[in-house]
Amino acid sequence: VEHLNGIEDLSPRDIQIIFETADRFKEVINRPIKKVPSLRDITIANVFFENSTRTKLSFELAEKRLSADVVNFSAGSSSVKKGETLVDTVNNILSMKVDMVVMRHPNPGAAKFLSERVDARVINAGDGTHEHPTQALLDSYSIREKLGTVEGKKVVIVGDILHSRVALSNIYALQKQGAEVMVCGPSTLIPKYIHELGVKVENNLKKALEWCDVANMLRIQLERQDIQYFPSLREYTMLYGLDKELLNSLSKEIIVMHPGPINRGVEITSDVADSKQSIILNQVENGVAIRMAVIYLLAAKVER
Ligand code: CP
Repeated sequence: VEHLNGIEDLSPRDIQIIFETADRFKEVINRPIKKVPSLRDITIANVFFENSTRTKLSFELAEKRLSADVVNFSAGSSSVKKGETLVDTVNNILSMKVDMVVMRHPNPGAAKFLSERVDARVINAGDGTHEHPTQALLDSYSIREKLGTVEGKKVVIVGDILHSRVALSNIYALQKQGAEVMVCGPSTLIPKYIHELGVKVENNLKKALEWCDVANMLRIQLERQDIQYFPSLREYTMLYGLDKELLNSLSKEIIVMHPGPINRGVEITSDVADSKQSIILNQVENGVAIRMAVIYLLAAKVER
């Protein structure tokens, strides 16, 4: 692929190549000198129209570990506030000899829209409720690291599936690698099209957790909900919050994941998030190697 818009566009072989490349970069970033000179001739702009902690810093570190030059753009403090369009903004950045754009944007399809209108490689760092491809790659990579393989594993994604780009990208990524996928949550937060994706649906958290090897706990995305949703946060926690008592009541030891940011005490309690069954910080660590791999592989397509 020329750009990374979504996992939907990747083949199982593409994902395998990204993981094998990330394996090499994970070794690099665990050395005392955490850098390789591979992309000394490449300049990358991180263009963020939405807040981020993990994705933004992880991309910046990945770029620096590859020796690329990096510029960071936050829409809130930019001339977007004076009415400049997305395409004008990015074309102005590109005219400063930038080769690649990493973009987070609140609108679904924004990365694809941009990639069709500018002369640069575009990596989607999250486009509204659509996809968050590098998150899904680092999630699957973390499952592979912990369990040896993704193929044949049972993964449940719990929570606000309706508003989640992480859920959609994970569904595509897990299925392409031969995992079984279930979503679990209140029916008000599960999209009607979910059955077309070939995933199981379960409204009872305990049953879903008994079924799975891995539970990926999502945050309720209040910022994307324009109606008063049901259930309330308190009801949600009672029905879908994962606490230690529930985790310990299961007949086998499952792996617990979360893309972050966590709302402690809502979808997951601290004693679960910080338990030895949680791989939440491993996911964040792996994000740098995965993003190095994605950038490195796409940079091969930049004209030099
Ligand atoms: N997981 C994730 O995308 O986190 P940020 O919003 O902090 O980047």
